[in-house]
Amino acid sequence: MNNDRRPDDMVRITTPELADAFIEEQVEAVRAQVGDRKVLLALSGGVDSSVVAALLIRAIGDQLTCVHVNHGLLRKGEPEQVIEVFRNQMKANLVYVDATDRFLDKLAGVADPETKRKIIGGEFIEVFAEEARKLDGIEFLAQGTIWPDILESEQGIKAHHNAGGLPEDMNFELVEPVRILFKDEVRVVGERLGLPHGMVYRQPFPGPGLGVRCPGAITRDRLEAVRESDAILREEFAKNGLEGKVWQYFTVVPDFKSTGIKDGKRAFEWCCIVRAINTTDVMQCTVENIPYDLMCHITDRITHEVPGINRVLYDYTPKPTGTVEFE
Ligand code: XMP
Repeated sequence: MNNDRRPDDMVRITTPELADAFIEEQVEAVRAQVGDRKVLLALSGGVDSSVVAALLIRAIGDQLTCVHVNHGLLRKGEPEQVIEVFRNQMKANLVYVDATDRFLDKLAGVADPETKRKIIGGEFIEVFAEEARKLDGIEFLAQGTIWPDILESEQGIKAHHNAGGLPEDMNFELVEPVRILFKDEVRVVGERLGLPHGMVYRQPFPGPGLGVRCPGAITRDRLEAVRESDAILREEFAKNGLEGKVWQYFTVVPDFKSTGIKDGKRAFEWCCIVRAINTTDVMQCTVENIPYDLMCHITDRITHEVPGINRVLYDYTPKPTGTVEFE
């Protein structure tokens, strides 16, 4: 099954009926592959792993164990949503690991972006492998591999993120039930499996999370300022019809302070940069034209509600010359 290729004549899954037929087919295929054995899944809360989790819960119920590693760099409300949707609503066998301290301790004082990424990626695999070792009799690893991942690795554009990375003694067979789907099809399937719209249609979010939006060495207080300002930006975009219209938007809080005034007193605090971009292929991006009044309102909320922030700036830089993320 892991050698499955997308048939050339496969109809694009755009309707609930096509999604239902795909789900039925995959449920049977997974049951045939797995039998009564056990499967492990790293559930990030992103679109692909969430859809795989929902599909496997339908196919094999509690033979699936999901592990959600909170590296402390997730957006506000994300770990809570994973627990609510998968443990409380879908009754999944969910192991939740709050590894925040472990990640932030390792990252303390590390300012180089690539070193930060390596620490986050390496630590993630270590925490996941530790949890996997605690579980008995797991024979399969489920992954949210999708068709573009396969194509891009075949074309040498990027290495496909499969089991590569896990220690060698962890020899799992792969279960990849959405590997022949494009992203838009994964979303249609996810909605038919009962996942919340916001989870299935959420904007892209990098693996290293808010870590790359806290440029320089990450500190807990500045990370909290990123998380809170991001939550305000998302709330205002949702209220003002920009959610689902703008491709990606977020805040960045660099390690830099400037003088300001709060409550009549000098306030030497960070600035918060707002970024909102549109793109089709992420190779080139344009900047969203946020209405002036809305930007003033967002500025007012962030400077008054987020401790440590006294200014808000808007990033007008397209890609190129900027990249989407700051690190
Ligand atoms: P850049 O900054 O390279 O971002 O213009 C392009 C898209 O990729 C996302 N991004 C990442 N995603 N791991 C990820 O999974 C990463 O290390 C990473 N860096 C950037 C970024 O959010 C944007 O959507």
